[in-house]
Amino acid sequence: MTKRIGIVTGGGDCPGLNAVIRAVSKAAAKRGWESIGILGGYEGLLEPRRHMELHYEQLGDLLTRGGTILGTANRGRFSTRVGHGERRRVPNDLLAATKAGFDALNLSALVCLGGDGTLTTAQQLHEFGLPVIGIPKTIDNDLDCTDYTFGFDSAVACATDAVDRLHTTAESHNRVIVLEVMGRYSGWIALYAGVAGGADAILIPEIPFRYESIQGRIRERESHGKLFALIVVAEGARQKGHDMVSIAEREDGEVRLGGISAVIAREIEHLAGREARNVVLGHLQRGGTPTPFDRALCTMFGASAIDLVAAGDFGKMVAFQGTEVTAVPIQKAIERLKTVPPDDTLVRTARAMGISLGD
Ligand code: F6P
Repeated sequence: MTKRIGIVTGGGDCPGLNAVIRAVSKAAAKRGWESIGILGGYEGLLEPRRHMELHYEQLGDLLTRGGTILGTANRGRFSTRVGHGERRRVPNDLLAATKAGFDALNLSALVCLGGDGTLTTAQQLHEFGLPVIGIPKTIDNDLDCTDYTFGFDSAVACATDAVDRLHTTAESHNRVIVLEVMGRYSGWIALYAGVAGGADAILIPEIPFRYESIQGRIRERESHGKLFALIVVAEGARQKGHDMVSIAEREDGEVRLGGISAVIAREIEHLAGREARNVVLGHLQRGGTPTPFDRALCTMFGASAIDLVAAGDFGKMVAFQGTEVTAVPIQKAIERLKTVPPDDTLVRTARAMGISLGD
């Protein structure tokens, strides 16, 4: 029997969303099924409904194109995330209106691409009776039950390129340069890019830092004749005993982070007497073409999502564990955020390289 698959992208964008849209549509088309894209996140299922047909022959360039052709939103009526581990329920009348949109568009399944917020909504829709499948997306890599979310590898590639570029200018000027990368509650991007780029200190939300520790690393380098240093800091990192540094409180309760690198650079100039600069990488990490690893991951995720629809195995999120794509209950994936464990292999590796974790 032919099916009609709805695809929705929610939360902050990232490289690979279009690659997943392509993979889902292609795998569906191979089975003789139709697929449509819901525009503007879950809102597109509400009146006035907005969607686009996804035709097999038009999917060609989506593999490499950044962003999402469907549009997305990380705030508004479907926003469920209000802080670390705190969630808001989508009201029942909104779930009912969403189900009405699903029925009106004659859909057989809804494939939801998103992070913990979007998938929390997907789980609520599933409990409300909608056949949903989740696909884990976020540059932060903080979704549980999957080793990797798509978008993460591309963000790390961008951040590592920034570390490499800053390395040469820091060395030329004998400066301390602090690079701020994304990572609200988890420091995966900072950790991977920091190790890959050979940073001297990596500061992550999971390990509150002390200036004495960073200063100690700078002094140690000085004793070896190295008068420059690179610090990679996640936007959600904080000094021990202090709060995260934020730009503004959002209307939905989740703060907009940013500015920790400037605070650290100022303090290092003052404490270590060294000239320091800071760079905020920001949304550059979320743009551009996905890396080869992300393209392959996105394609595996999309194909596997269609297998789950074919099996009628709903309420599941596709996941990458070890070297295999598998499926886990969405509920399990959203129960907790996957933060960096203090004894993570890469944390231990960083320490073995003499990199300061700020503690
Ligand atoms: O959750 C992904 C993320 O990139 C976070 O690391 C960051 O704090 C947030 O999105 C920024 O979102 P925006 O500026 O798009 O609201």
